[in-house]
Amino acid sequence: MKLALRAEGISPSPTLAIDTQAKAMKAEGIEVINFSAGEPDFGTPEHIKEAAVKALSEGYTRYTPVAGIPELRQAVCDSFKKRGLEYEVADIVVSCGAKHSLYNAMQVLLNEGDEVILSAPYWVSYYEQVKLAGGKPVVINTDDSTGFKLTPAVLEENITPRTKLLILNSPCNPTGAVYSREELEKLAEVILKHDLMVISDEIYGALLYDGLEHVSIASLGPEMKEHTIVVDGVSKTYAMTGWRIGYTAAPRNITKAMTDLQSHSTSNPTAVAQKAAVAALVESQEPVELMRQQFEKRRNRMLSGLRSLPGINCSQPGGAFYVFPNIGGLFGRKFRGQVLNNSTDVATVLLKEFHVAVVPGIAFGSDPFMRMSYATSMEQIEAGLERLKAFTDELE
Ligand SMILES: Cc1ncc(COP(=O)(O)O)c(C=O)c1O
Repeated sequence: MKLALRAEGISPSPTLAIDTQAKAMKAEGIEVINFSAGEPDFGTPEHIKEAAVKALSEGYTRYTPVAGIPELRQAVCDSFKKRGLEYEVADIVVSCGAKHSLYNAMQVLLNEGDEVILSAPYWVSYYEQVKLAGGKPVVINTDDSTGFKLTPAVLEENITPRTKLLILNSPCNPTGAVYSREELEKLAEVILKHDLMVISDEIYGALLYDGLEHVSIASLGPEMKEHTIVVDGVSKTYAMTGWRIGYTAAPRNITKAMTDLQSHSTSNPTAVAQKAAVAALVESQEPVELMRQQFEKRRNRMLSGLRSLPGINCSQPGGAFYVFPNIGGLFGRKFRGQVLNNSTDVATVLLKEFHVAVVPGIAFGSDPFMRMSYATSMEQIEAGLERLKAFTDELE
């Protein structure tokens, strides 16, 4: 049976593919240092797991309202309030992970041929989700010379009468770039002038370093709030990737459409996971701060290690748990006789010969780079940096 054109056009997630390859090598007994994963290595904090166990033992096993239990939606409103966002329970839809929230948002916003602006390097699923909704991704390249950030002038140059949506991701996966309030204000002027919608993916909003402040573009005023769908979730902040809870805050008509869509796909997100998410958002935030501090230490170690390697330059990421070094200085050099032409060549040699898994930048639309996650132990980081040094030492 021939598949639908929609299905034939999907590219599988390259980050998950590398992670799977690294895990398969590990299963064969190879000691792989895995810098490819996009999830915290920490376990979910105990009090969150206990809330789930309690919910289960109390028989909390039935369908819930499609948009999520009111208790969780209220907790989401309260957590958004801390970043200057005023929403009511009726503005929130809880879904099966932020990835699902993003999917719902694109499905209800985009018509065939609507243009969606993405700045590269971008998180891989945006591109595919735009296509799946019939939209046309318009990619604007950024690099380390502008801190991987979109400028208002470049944004405006790329707007056409078909442009409907801009996807913003601060802090960013894969670069760790964080937009400041002033930068967002300037982008907001262009967005409002051209009446665009924004999906603001703030899933890494709690993982900021160097004293940086997380600013949501929706907090810049009532008009910007009306033009924004805020996306967040518990995966990264609370080490809850497997629980699959994400959520949106959006204008009412969009919220209603996403709820109706979800009613015909997943119904509600898992009941017991919703109870765990309530505990995550409402109870002590101390575990989050402890994890954040660990991430900051690891980021610093990763940066100093990478910066000491010839041919590699690494800008300082302000958030998330990735570094995105520029490896253009390695291109054209030879490893055991083979010329390294691009980030895929580098990632392949690193995995096959040094058992270090990284994601080539091309997967995010930016070739002279690679993404390394530091959501792994300091011991693994030290060992990985040693192997990277052995690699660069061997280059001719
Ligand atoms: C930028 C970004 N947005 C959204 C997600 C999805 O998170 P989840 O579906 O686990 O909530 C991820 C996960 O890797 C991400 O990196």
